[in-house]
Amino acid sequence: MDNFEFYRPTQYFFGQGESARVGERVAALGKKSVLLVYGGGSAVRSGLIDSVEKSLESFGIAYVAVGGVQPNPRAALVYTCIEKGRDANVDFVLAVGGGSVIDTAKAAAVGIPHEGDFFEDFYIKGMQPTAGLPHGCVLTIPAAGSEGSNSAVIQKEVDGKVIKQGLSSQFNVPRFAVMDPTLTMTLPDYQTACGATDMMAHVMERYFTNTTDVSITDRICEAVLLSIIETVPRVLEDPHNYGARANLMWAGTLAHNNLCGVGREQDWATHHLEHQLSALYDCAHGAGLAVMFPAWMEYTLNHNVMRFAQFAHRVMGVEMDFADPVNTAREGIVRLRHFFKSIGMPVSFKELGAREEDIPALLNLLGIDKHSEGHFVVLGRDDCEKIYRIAAHCDD
Ligand code: NZQ
Ligand code: ZN
Repeated sequence: MDNFEFYRPTQYFFGQGESARVGERVAALGKKSVLLVYGGGSAVRSGLIDSVEKSLESFGIAYVAVGGVQPNPRAALVYTCIEKGRDANVDFVLAVGGGSVIDTAKAAAVGIPHEGDFFEDFYIKGMQPTAGLPHGCVLTIPAAGSEGSNSAVIQKEVDGKVIKQGLSSQFNVPRFAVMDPTLTMTLPDYQTACGATDMMAHVMERYFTNTTDVSITDRICEAVLLSIIETVPRVLEDPHNYGARANLMWAGTLAHNNLCGVGREQDWATHHLEHQLSALYDCAHGAGLAVMFPAWMEYTLNHNVMRFAQFAHRVMGVEMDFADPVNTAREGIVRLRHFFKSIGMPVSFKELGAREEDIPALLNLLGIDKHSEGHFVVLGRDDCEKIYRIAAHCDD
């Protein structure tokens, strides 16, 4: 196990009715003026925004609202948030929504005190923020894990090229996250499944590692994965099942607050391969991951067959073939694809609406000529191209 530092100072308020108390949470931090960020409509239709606004008002907290965050959030709305936040002199940013809304709020929180262009400086040049407004969120979809992560992913078109990029910074860690599982009951099945796939991918990016002697985090990873696999069908069968929704919601946080990843080298190539799909086709991040993860696994399997066999056995329930562990490892990938399919996810380019002839464009967006991808296996351009081709041909 490697040395590590683990500091995640987010306060979680979990359970039914918690969103009505958000004003109290902001007031407890001594904040008086909020930039309220939300999405394209679901939180308005459900009455959540109304209830959050009332809760802020009842604690004498002023707010300025910016709605309309799109999935795969655009930098343009972050600039609007920065401008409105500065004009109103806000001292706190509150996101009400999913990963896209939370990431927009996080980007605004570091953008408001920053003199330069936040996207150019932090997302393109790789500068680290040195200040940031405190922020919190009311989560409405368990998926991206942004409510407990130190990253924010934003998209912008630069010189005709859509760049979807993440920024990791301690300033991106929320002060609090309000998590009420009942808020997730309005999610369409497709979004629930995309969210679950993303969570699984967050764990798997950490699971496939070259670091040895990490049995504690292996076992935590396996527990989170097994619980997601067991819970998603229950949620899809009965979207109002509070217990199942609650388990899935907390799994999303544990999958990405790095509890599963400390002390070990992590991979993240699949996420970067996927980000180009969502940049090019505007598909849901989770759907793109359902296509890319099994393809990445097929390509990297021979690097450490026993790790894939362990995953197949412990997580996908495959009987271990000690005489030929490659069989076990391969069957694990087959079952993973089958699971994604069973919850309504695409598993091939065709099902996602992606096109093989776009692979050069995807590689170009990935910028793979300038750097390598991944750590478990370090990938160059040829490797990434082959992985995209596996995804393009897996249903031939
Ligand atoms: O905009 P509205 O109308 O709210 O609709 C949203 C959106 O269409 C809908 N939705 C959310 N809560 C709902 C609901 N519909 C009904 N009822 C509810 N309770 O769901 C759709 C998807 O929302 P979005 O926020 O985009 O989903 P998600 O949480 O999956 O976030 C995806 C984004 O997060 C990034 C992804 O790349 C993508 O841009 N990621 C962020 C990470 C992070 N910050 O740590 C890590 C991830 O790996 C990921 O890259
Ligand atoms: Zn993700």
